[in-house]
Amino acid sequence: MTATIPESLAPEAGNTPIPFVDLKAQMRSIRAEIDAAIAGVLDSCQFTLGPEVEAFEQEFAAYSQRPFGVAVNTGTSALHLALLAAGVGPGDEVITVPFTFVATASAIDYTGARPVFVDIDPATLTMDPRALEAAITPRTRAILPVHLYGLMADMEAIGEIARRHDLVVIEDAAQAHGAELHGRRAGSFGHMACFSFDPGKNLGACGEGGMVVTGDADLARRVRLLRDWGAPQKYHHEIKGYNFRMEAIQGAVLRAKLRHLPAWTEARARVAARYDELLAGTSIRAQAAPAGYRSVHHVYAVRTAAREAWQHALTRQGVASGIHYPKPIHLLPAFRELGGQRGQFPHAEAAAQTVLSLPMYAELTDAQVQRVGEAVRALATASRQPGHAAPRPAAAVARGGWSGAPAGAGLGQAGAA
Ligand SMILES: Cc1ncc(COP(=O)(O)O)c(C=O)c1O
Repeated sequence: MTATIPESLAPEAGNTPIPFVDLKAQMRSIRAEIDAAIAGVLDSCQFTLGPEVEAFEQEFAAYSQRPFGVAVNTGTSALHLALLAAGVGPGDEVITVPFTFVATASAIDYTGARPVFVDIDPATLTMDPRALEAAITPRTRAILPVHLYGLMADMEAIGEIARRHDLVVIEDAAQAHGAELHGRRAGSFGHMACFSFDPGKNLGACGEGGMVVTGDADLARRVRLLRDWGAPQKYHHEIKGYNFRMEAIQGAVLRAKLRHLPAWTEARARVAARYDELLAGTSIRAQAAPAGYRSVHHVYAVRTAAREAWQHALTRQGVASGIHYPKPIHLLPAFRELGGQRGQFPHAEAAAQTVLSLPMYAELTDAQVQRVGEAVRALATASRQPGHAAPRPAAAVARGGWSGAPAGAGLGQAGAA
């Protein structure tokens, strides 16, 4: 989508806006394939599940190095059903991280179980396995690590702890299609893994979509039953289920897009590597991928204590940015019943206060990446000048407060969830 910038924040002369995510650029590059995929579904009039969805289940499960895939209507439903299939319910505890999109904790909540948080590692921004063991209680039923920004959590260490305590592991892989740890893909470590195909994801539908992948035929069967009213055959409801089926149009679109995903992932890696180069030598920290990890760069976030000023300065130059996420879940009003306290998860809280996501998508040109990188580099250099104090942007104050503005505010672009 092309950014729409309010006049007061118009980009400086000659700088065309760089959106945070450009779904139109992707669509232009594959439009004929998408049209054909949708036309095939319209011709068949098989609108829900059906052969396109089945083929996509097989192809995406294979891509994630798993034998079984069950396609659903959203990533949130994938998490919800994976937890139910694992037997999670009222009275249980599920351990996850507070620095994630709210859906991770909401899915736990839907089952009646209680989300229990452990802090993140400050470098990787994913679950710190060293904090995990202390959070395990007799009520713990499952661990739900999140592969944040496209970087996998330390699944080897988490898996080892889970085996020792006989716990189910469900990967929240909503942001990590094709990410790897020592050559094994996101989705291939846990008992189950859950993907999102919302439009802003690395593999995005023309609408909503999700999938549970697993190596366990029985878990796949249970998720399949739950997504379609608990009925293996029409009107023969074995258990109480849901209408969480994937639409055939989304299955057909996602099959077409999956063929491009390896090239898009390579392009994202090139953008990330170029950002790394342009920001080298500054004090800027980005998410660290340890040796053996292959991130798929869903989000490229830098960290700065002067986030509001940086975001404002970038906006003035026509560069959109986002914040993923401005509040950790334990401090969200929606989850106040969990009794979360400020200071409880210092690394998650510090990340929430400092992360700033830069434009990231496969179609970014070298010139655009250069412009973003140089703009951020200049901000980092200016922030280090003695006596420099990050100004509170006047325009933002006039609008009634900057820190409350949503990610990418005013730039007319839906970004990563
Ligand atoms: C980490 C994480 N988990 C879960 C979800 C939920 O996926 P969906 O939006 O497809 O329901 C998302 C994305 O929205 C996400 O980023």
